[in-house]
Amino acid sequence: MKYVIVGTDRPGSNSKKVAELVRELYAKNHGETVEILDLREIVKGLQEGPQYGAVSHPILTEAANKVEKSDGLILVVPEYNGSMPGVLKYFIDHLKYPDAFEARPVCFIGLGGMFGGLRPVEHLQQVFGYRNSFIFPERIFMINVHQHYKKTEANPDGTLKDPMILSLLQKQIAGFRKFVDALKSAELHALTKPAPPQK
Ligand SMILES: Cc1cc2nc3c(=O)[nH]c(=O)nc-3n(C[C@H](O)[C@H](O)[C@H](O)COP(=O)(O)O)c2cc1C
Repeated sequence: MKYVIVGTDRPGSNSKKVAELVRELYAKNHGETVEILDLREIVKGLQEGPQYGAVSHPILTEAANKVEKSDGLILVVPEYNGSMPGVLKYFIDHLKYPDAFEARPVCFIGLGGMFGGLRPVEHLQQVFGYRNSFIFPERIFMINVHQHYKKTEANPDGTLKDPMILSLLQKQIAGFRKFVDALKSAELHALTKPAPPQK
């Protein structure tokens, strides 16, 4: 199972809306079920520390187990003050080293103002590069994201209709699926790579 991580706990988040759209596109175009991991829920399990690397709160244990068994992670990350939201880094810091992210495929969708979440995505690339994940090279940056969800006469339900963004999402999804499958069949993926020899 792949998981879409909503990179904020902000109520009414646009990142959550994008994550739901990604889930819909996986189902509609590929018949693949992907699940959303919503930091708005998970944050409740982050606040009874210290749990770094040895999670004990049930909400966090469930999320950590899902990440550790995942085929791939799709991070939807908004830009907050020139970087990722603190709650996303806090979540990442709670997960087990190296198991959570080592040899795990990840891809990124950034949301923001005029730079479309370029900065948080690039900061995350450093974090996941450090954690030896497989980073899918096609990133998406959604510039002035709030405008895509604005209710107008032409868009009364306020859903994302921009054909360019939709086509970028579809292309990223198709590519990421192949990327994950290729890594799995080459036995490079966290779930398929041979265990290191016992000493
Ligand atoms: C606390 C906060 C800080 C923000 N900082 C930035 C920023 O540095 N650069 C930017 O382009 N947009 C910034 N924004 C705008 C958000 O990236 C944009 O509104 C996005 O939709 C937020 O994602 P969300 O709706 O999932 O919270 C900020 C928004 C919030 C709430």
